[in-house]
Amino acid sequence: MTATRSNAAAAPAAGGILEAGRLAGLSPAALAEAFGTPFYVYDLDLIGHRVAALRDVLPRGFRVAFAVKANPALAVVAHLRRCGVGADVASGGELETVLRAGFEPSTIAMTGPGKRDEELAAAVSACIGVLTVESPGELRRLEAVAAAAGRRQPILLRLAVSEDARLETVRLIGGVEGKFGMPLDTLLDTARAAAASRHVELLGVHAFGASNVRDAEQLAKHVSELVEIGRQVAAQAGTQLRLVDAGGGLGIPYANRERPLDFARLGRRLTEMRARWDADGLGEMEVVLEPGRFLVGPAGAYVARVVDVKGPDSAPVAILDGGINHLARPALVRSEHRLAVFATDAVRALVRTTVAGPLCTGLDVFTTDAMLPRPHVGDLIAVLDAGAYGFTESMPLFLSHPTAAEVAVSGGRAQLIRPRMTPTEFLDRQINPDW
Ligand SMILES: Cc1ncc(COP(=O)(O)O)c(C=O)c1O
Repeated sequence: MTATRSNAAAAPAAGGILEAGRLAGLSPAALAEAFGTPFYVYDLDLIGHRVAALRDVLPRGFRVAFAVKANPALAVVAHLRRCGVGADVASGGELETVLRAGFEPSTIAMTGPGKRDEELAAAVSACIGVLTVESPGELRRLEAVAAAAGRRQPILLRLAVSEDARLETVRLIGGVEGKFGMPLDTLLDTARAAAASRHVELLGVHAFGASNVRDAEQLAKHVSELVEIGRQVAAQAGTQLRLVDAGGGLGIPYANRERPLDFARLGRRLTEMRARWDADGLGEMEVVLEPGRFLVGPAGAYVARVVDVKGPDSAPVAILDGGINHLARPALVRSEHRLAVFATDAVRALVRTTVAGPLCTGLDVFTTDAMLPRPHVGDLIAVLDAGAYGFTESMPLFLSHPTAAEVAVSGGRAQLIRPRMTPTEFLDRQINPDW
């Protein structure tokens, strides 16, 4: 593929997918020509760099497991396996994905509320490395499943955090009853039950602190506090603290004004902690981090074509051939992503622009006031930092448009990894009863 002249305007955060008007080193126009629009494009080499950069700053005894929910495309997941990380799965479907991607079962962790018996059974029979138990009831169901399989399943117990920790805001460990995990008193009782069980092996604790945290000190504090809780749990249960899973939450900037996470600083804090733990009888303890967004978010972009432009020249409204049916995150968490317009003609003036999708809902708007080169019909527009919580955290069936295609790029080569699905395919799967 060759480059076209382009007029891409956005200020990419360091290390993003957009550089010199190209996406993952390739011409957006050539990608659109080859794969049609809309499409997601993922830069696998950039994902590899992000994995290496994170692992480089982590001390001994820290492992990284990719949170598959962030981007479960098989080719992306398989690439992360080749990068040498483990996997964190939240469902039977994600377990199937990572097994198909070739992950060694011992590197797989399963965490998530509402695991069905058949999902527990699939995890146990696959011999995954560790399963996080979210409630006393789940422990009892897991024991029955493990007993039937004749296997002793290594487990962690999940500590509850305050409810809004899941909404990309900053929150520390609380310990309240809610959807995720257990409050500390319930967790201690459950730990005693687990320690007495022949069917599970209690390794330690798990807690997800908060999503999209770009403050290294906050992330380090979460790990430190969780290890102290793990120590308390192990002491009360009469076990040894062997594993602490601090979840994900490593953040990325979405807006130009946001600063990236200083992960070298995070690494320094964790290294200081490691030295303290080693001196304090926890030399054997391992810590798992489960980043999703941090590894893949900046390595993906969603690209759509402008099908209509209206409004005055000074404040145009561009309508794309895809919107929140393909990328719902901006509407879900009310967080605007940076946009880039790829215009194939001469440089254009920047104007305050609205960019929206084709759905019949006011939610389907990517921006109402971005300063962008005035869009024309036929231009391509990329929504940046869309590699995490993009394709699968969307609403593809709403309004019966085709889905976005997914494309991976590595070593300058682009490859279709998930073909576009058409409304006809959705129709073909339906049954119209002959009543
Ligand atoms: C248990 C668990 N681990 C890891 C993650 C990944 O989070 P992030 O993508 O913010 O790193 C999530 C996200 O919801 C999660 O629920």
